[in-house]
Amino acid sequence: MRRYLIAGNWKMNCGPGRTSELLQGIKELSPQIPEAVDVLVCPPEISLTTASEVLNDYDVYLGAQNVHYEDEGAFTGEVSTGMLKEVGCSYVIIGHSERREYFGETDKTVNAKVIKALLDDLKPVLCVGESLAQRKKEVHKKMVKKQVQAALNSVKENNVSDVVIAYEPIWAIGTGETATPEQAQEMHEMIRSVLSELYDEDAADAIRILYGGSMKPHNAEELLSQPDVDGGLIGGASLKADSFTDIINIAE
Ligand code: G3H
Repeated sequence: MRRYLIAGNWKMNCGPGRTSELLQGIKELSPQIPEAVDVLVCPPEISLTTASEVLNDYDVYLGAQNVHYEDEGAFTGEVSTGMLKEVGCSYVIIGHSERREYFGETDKTVNAKVIKALLDDLKPVLCVGESLAQRKKEVHKKMVKKQVQAALNSVKENNVSDVVIAYEPIWAIGTGETATPEQAQEMHEMIRSVLSELYDEDAADAIRILYGGSMKPHNAEELLSQPDVDGGLIGGASLKADSFTDIINIAE
């Protein structure tokens, strides 16, 4: 039985001050996180320490939006798994389409980061998803399958249940245009069958697959009611305490 995971990817929003306000707002609106739901917030790196202090013993996980695959060294601007753990992170987003598009992230670096995160006990939220052009050409399934296979290359079955996959069609990110529940379910089911081929059915059944791309309180219920949709990776709607907590409560 997979637990829902409702994750907020704050992207490049919320410095320490705003992080503190937003988390206080979430705490006030949802002092008790529903039993059946895991909640994760991923603020920018500069705000992780503040977030960790504000979260304290509140039942919400902390994650980062990126990590390097080396332990330390001359990698200006990067952070390591050890640093993220030191400030209280237990998850890290890897391979978001914005990192692939604007920061040269490739299937190869995504794979190295997934392996490193698992090795150091951080749960990777591995992002995959097709562009609009790929969907129009009807190669979206092939592309996403390839991304999943490449990202999990050399990941062993005993580790893979710690991986969370986020299916995020690029055309739905920040556009207000959401995949229909049927489109999301079709892709999630396909991803689960790829996981089953790579590992086995039990392993595939244990992995959570989140949907991301304009998930909002008004469409969350239908998306989350699909059998292979195990939560959401939420951008815009995670930046307001009321819409984020609404989605948490819908997942309950
Ligand atoms: O990581 C989150 C996704 O990119 C979705 O963002 O909810 O603003 O469309 P969005």
